[in-house]
Amino acid sequence: MKTILWATLTANGNYAQSGANNPPTKEALNDFAAQAAAAGNFIVGRKTFEAMRGSGGGGPFAEVDIVVVSKNASEIPGVTVVRSPQEALTCLQQKGHQTALISGGADIHNSFLGEGLVDEVIFNVAPVLEGKGLNLLIDKDNYEYKHVQLLDCKPLGGGVIQLRYAIER
Ligand SMILES: NC(=O)c1ccc[n+]([C@@H]2O[C@H](COP(=O)([O-])OP(=O)(O)OC[C@H]3O[C@@H](n4cnc5c(N)ncnc54)[C@H](OP(=O)(O)O)[C@@H]3O)[C@@H](O)[C@H]2O)c1
Repeated sequence: MKTILWATLTANGNYAQSGANNPPTKEALNDFAAQAAAAGNFIVGRKTFEAMRGSGGGGPFAEVDIVVVSKNASEIPGVTVVRSPQEALTCLQQKGHQTALISGGADIHNSFLGEGLVDEVIFNVAPVLEGKGLNLLIDKDNYEYKHVQLLDCKPLGGGVIQLRYAIER
């Protein structure tokens, strides 16, 4: 199964955070909806899922399989709850999906990257700068580096640039 990690970065390279005062751009949201529709699914961390639900974000995803990763959460109506990144992939594979879209947040993205479970990354670079923030890391404890292959680079409008890279594993 092909895994695609989708994330918004800030122009100074942070893993972008959003909230009531700094909502995601409409270009990034539209792109996420399109990527989720194309994959037919997305995998999301329990905290990001709760934030999406709180802002009424479930509507456009009625046709999409949503897998929530949590060590503790029990059943959540309308979605599948799993205990690990690998279990999320197994679950989607068993449902016949060819591609899994990994939608965040930081903990989930870093878990998938750290476990070497990502084939492709889509980074939407938003025209915003942040102070101290979050980072995407292939290893949380050690310095590591990995070359990746640029597959595509295009503007999405509204000052957002999309970068797409392949990761060999
Ligand atoms: N830049 C972007 O594209 C983007 C996208 C989405 C969110 N965000 C930002 O990311 C932040 C939220 O991220 P977050 O890191 O706090 O939360 P998160 O990744 O959405 O969810 C974290 C939770 O996921 C579960 N989890 C994480 N790793 C796991 C693992 N290996 N196995 C099992 N369960 C695991 C745990 O749930 P339990 O506690 O239930 O065990 C954990 O508390 C916000 O600031 C949001 O704005 C950014």
